[in-house]
Amino acid sequence: METMKEKVVMITGAAAGIGLACAEAFAKAGATTILVDINKPEPQTRKLTDEGFKAVAYGCDVSDTQAVKEMVDWIVATYGHLDAALNNAGIQTPQRPMAEITDEEFDRTVAVDLKGVWNCMRYEIIQMLKQGGGAIVNTSSQGGVTGFPGQAAYIACKHAVIGLTRTAAIDYAAKGIRINAICPGAIRTPMAEELIRRNPNLEQELIRDIPAGRLGKPEEIANAVLWLCSPQASFVDGHALLVDGAFSI
Ligand code: NAI
Repeated sequence: METMKEKVVMITGAAAGIGLACAEAFAKAGATTILVDINKPEPQTRKLTDEGFKAVAYGCDVSDTQAVKEMVDWIVATYGHLDAALNNAGIQTPQRPMAEITDEEFDRTVAVDLKGVWNCMRYEIIQMLKQGGGAIVNTSSQGGVTGFPGQAAYIACKHAVIGLTRTAAIDYAAKGIRINAICPGAIRTPMAEELIRRNPNLEQELIRDIPAGRLGKPEEIANAVLWLCSPQASFVDGHALLVDGAFSI
């Protein structure tokens, strides 16, 4: 069903994993979907356009404030509006206890995982105020409400994304802009595969702790994000939605 027909949607971190699954879901729901990644995700976008969906690739480092501004300006100049956005690009810090994380590693994690969300939200909101509304989803994590060993900088950012989401939701609720966070549990993506590659026991350890008994699929996050951006979620605002097979309960 084309629930996103006529809508323009931007998704960051769309070259792989959760972002790519979300881009596919929005494009299949009829949206003009802008796939944003640090390197322009052309093959992923072409796959969608070859299937007849409306998709465009855009290269942008979300930690670069000026580049993010130019991207949103380009979207508005090209399509006239920006109806929904998923701020999802993220990186992990190397798996080490807090005191062993270098300042450079901390700074880069904050630059992408927190400032990147901040940058995108700011310019999305400026446009959504002009057009009278919109929907934004920020990717936090199950680790946005719990701790996780060896990931202090990453987890700090994911907690911060929830605080940012809640406060911005309050600031802009009366202006018709809904802002929510999605909190994935362990989802089988290139990011998760890399962690499992570095620690082969991790997959079994995770599965043991997930009541659903398995890792999640990127499409299961995409279904939730699509709903959060849809009119069916019109009174859902400032929420941090856990999609984690009951991992964090
Ligand atoms: P992934 O590593 O498969 O994909 C992340 C994408 O973000 C990549 O395509 C990468 O190139 C892009 N990216 C990285 N830095 C960027 C930058 N500076 N500018 C633009 N794009 C950039 O990761 P995955 O697993 O799909 O994660 C997506 C989001 O979900 C991340 O925010 C992650 O923290 C979050 N998440 C993932 C979980 C998992 O189990 N996979 C669990 C909880 C949260």
